Amino acid sequence: MDPYLLGLRLEGRRVVVVGGGAVASRRIPALLDAGADVLLVSPKVAASLEDLAAAGRIRWEPRGYRPGDCAGAWLVCACTDDPEVNAAVASAAEQQRTWYVRADDAGASAAWTPASGQAAGIRVAVLSVDPERGDPRHSAAIRDAVVVGLQSGRLSARHGRRHPAGVAIIGGGPGDPGLITVRGRQLLAEADVVLTDRLAPRSLLDELRDDVEIIDAGKIPYGRAMAQEHINAALVAHARAGRFVARLKGGDPFVFGRGAEEVLACLRAGVPVTVVPGVTSAVAVPASAWVPVTHRGVAQEFHVVSVHVAPGDERSTVNWELLGGSSGTLVLLMAVERIGAVAGELLRYGRSPDTPVSVIADGTLPTQRTINSTLEQVESCVAEEGVRPPAIVVVGDVVSVAAEITELMRHVTAGRTG
Ligand SMILES: C[S@@+](CC[C@H](N)C(=O)[O-])C[C@H]1O[C@@H](n2cnc3c(N)ncnc32)[C@H](O)[C@@H]1O
Repeated sequence: MDPYLLGLRLEGRRVVVVGGGAVASRRIPALLDAGADVLLVSPKVAASLEDLAAAGRIRWEPRGYRPGDCAGAWLVCACTDDPEVNAAVASAAEQQRTWYVRADDAGASAAWTPASGQAAGIRVAVLSVDPERGDPRHSAAIRDAVVVGLQSGRLSARHGRRHPAGVAIIGGGPGDPGLITVRGRQLLAEADVVLTDRLAPRSLLDELRDDVEIIDAGKIPYGRAMAQEHINAALVAHARAGRFVARLKGGDPFVFGRGAEEVLACLRAGVPVTVVPGVTSAVAVPASAWVPVTHRGVAQEFHVVSVHVAPGDERSTVNWELLGGSSGTLVLLMAVERIGAVAGELLRYGRSPDTPVSVIADGTLPTQRTINSTLEQVESCVAEEGVRPPAIVVVGDVVSVAAEITELMRHVTAGRTG
């Protein structure tokens, strides 16, 4: 017989899990997400379950199963590696008419756990009922296909769903379309209008439906200072006209992204707004060139600095003396055109001329390039190599860690191909 699918609402309801190994470690977090009151019975448990017990999120009885343990349960999971114990648990549950899942024997289970996932406000559960194709990996693959389809918007039932309203300020990550968050991608897929920036992951725009209006905010007229006001006005106007607006930005909206200005403009106009954080280029671009912004014993702090105005400019609020005297990693954004002045200031305030520097342009994109230099040489190096924005400049000994990783990587890759 085919199974009958139900969504169990477990909030505050007792679920007894017997066995504390790998299966329980996978099931219990999902049961907790559903609000279940979990009782775990097992002499030993995996570290992650011990942590949950220590945090008071589950109750753990550190002993073997005993008759009576299933009393009061709405659902029982028998997940030990001993079939006899699992059979005893299942039999107790059957007698008291409680649904039970046996991890070791699907045929002896009263219920099966589907491959499940969630996206775009939809919970997806997949159970294979074909004996030929009963492999759980098959169900998991179907689940993944549906979840990815919902996330990307390729699979949608727009008209059957509540359409979001207002504005979503979405951090698109550093450029690689794979580095936007799941929520960012979902909201982008639901937009009626998208206002995009120059550094946003524009390849995602190709996936949008034909009727989505795409506005290139980089091309909004009236110069840089005015442009932000026009962007704010466009966000508000489209939202007030009943369209769901996605504001797709590079990196994280709140890291030198003027995201908060857009939030304020929407709220002042009475337009509902949400923010989806993004993967900031300040960390992701160095990582894409194997530069860790911190490394134990090398750098205990990192400073992210916007150099859109040069040191000494009256608009600059950066304390270059402090940065020059620190041994932490410096991550400099918008610094390429002013790199000579920056290097001069850091040297003046105490950084060594040999301090390693990495300049990473077009990080995470197919055109990414990395130039390694020193604080003393970096200005001429950037000029000789013709480095153009967008680029991140990393100053500090962590750059040497990247050299070590790259060297080892070369050996590993050569070993695999050789
Ligand atoms: C106005 S800031 C925006 C930062 C963004 N909000 C973030 O969190 O990444 C623009 C600067 O970010 C850096 N940047 C952004 N994307 C980059 C990329 N893919 N490669 C290198 N630098 C990047 C450059 O320094 C660029 O000039």
